[in-house]
Amino acid sequence: MKTPQFFQLHHEDSDQIRTELLKGLQSSQAYTSPKYLYDALGSKLFEAICELPEYYPTRTEAAIFLEHAASIASHIPQGAALIDLGAGNCQKAASLFEHVKPFRYVAVDISVDFLRGTLDTLQRQYPDLDMAGVGMDFSESLNLPAAAMGDIPEVRALAPRVFFYPGSSIGNFTPDEALAFLQRIHAACSAHGSDAKQGGLLIGVDLVKGTAELEAAYDDALGVTAAFNRNMLLHINRLIDSDFHLDDWSHVALYDEQLARIEMHLQAKRDVVLRWVGGGRVFAKNERIHTENSYKWTAQGFSDLLQNAGFAKPVVWTDAKEKFAVMWAAA
Ligand code: AVJ
Repeated sequence: MKTPQFFQLHHEDSDQIRTELLKGLQSSQAYTSPKYLYDALGSKLFEAICELPEYYPTRTEAAIFLEHAASIASHIPQGAALIDLGAGNCQKAASLFEHVKPFRYVAVDISVDFLRGTLDTLQRQYPDLDMAGVGMDFSESLNLPAAAMGDIPEVRALAPRVFFYPGSSIGNFTPDEALAFLQRIHAACSAHGSDAKQGGLLIGVDLVKGTAELEAAYDDALGVTAAFNRNMLLHINRLIDSDFHLDDWSHVALYDEQLARIEMHLQAKRDVVLRWVGGGRVFAKNERIHTENSYKWTAQGFSDLLQNAGFAKPVVWTDAKEKFAVMWAAA
């Protein structure tokens, strides 16, 4: 049996985190990065969200992968390096292995620690597949170390690179940021002289739909998404020694049709005096902290975006109700 290799490139800098958080909390329209939704409990709450009846994206995407597995695989080069961006529990990528037959699986996530247990387990299921776990902030850089990619040019031609970015995580980016990110993926397909023409991107995108259905998906009856959003305050309390009280804040999820995005906010139920070590601020009753954007795309709009980023016209699969799309865009 092979053993996975691990590389930790990203190092959390607590001063940097503090500076970034305070900048957002002190601005007149307070905001935070959605990455702070994901502490240990937040990641579990997100897994619970994916099981909710109202949250259709996860199960709709899974159904598309299942129904169109053979067709999807027919477009993807075999023997590629499969690079999973935001791998998490690696289950979505693992379901592709038998169809896509990658030569190597590279799981990328912010923390390699979470990937260790997952990849060790996955390696037992796929003993002959080369695996690497890379801890890096891929929203900043896609500079993957050659060692993690298994690039050994003297031994064989460099494998094509297939990037995998499921779950509509692209929705956290504004359209401008999404374009820049996709351009970087496109450039990374040909990095280190790998066969760019064969490589590409397999991506899941949530589609524009009615406001009621979208708002229900982000404000479920059980209150799990509310807990997920409000838990960010507990996470921030630990990061900057602040004194957010859960009782003071309620969850708000609104769809902005013009911008085609769900916005999540935390709204003050009363006047709140917030303190952190070295400072603080006042929030008036009903004032909000903007915690997340989740952009929705039309299939046409996202197909254009991929082509603007340099990819070929994508192949598109959707469910019967066109809630969600999976696209393969060759580099
Ligand atoms: C992980 C960014 C794809 O936007 O649907 C789910 C996060 N936030 N419910 C999404 C999320 C609230 C999710 N993404």
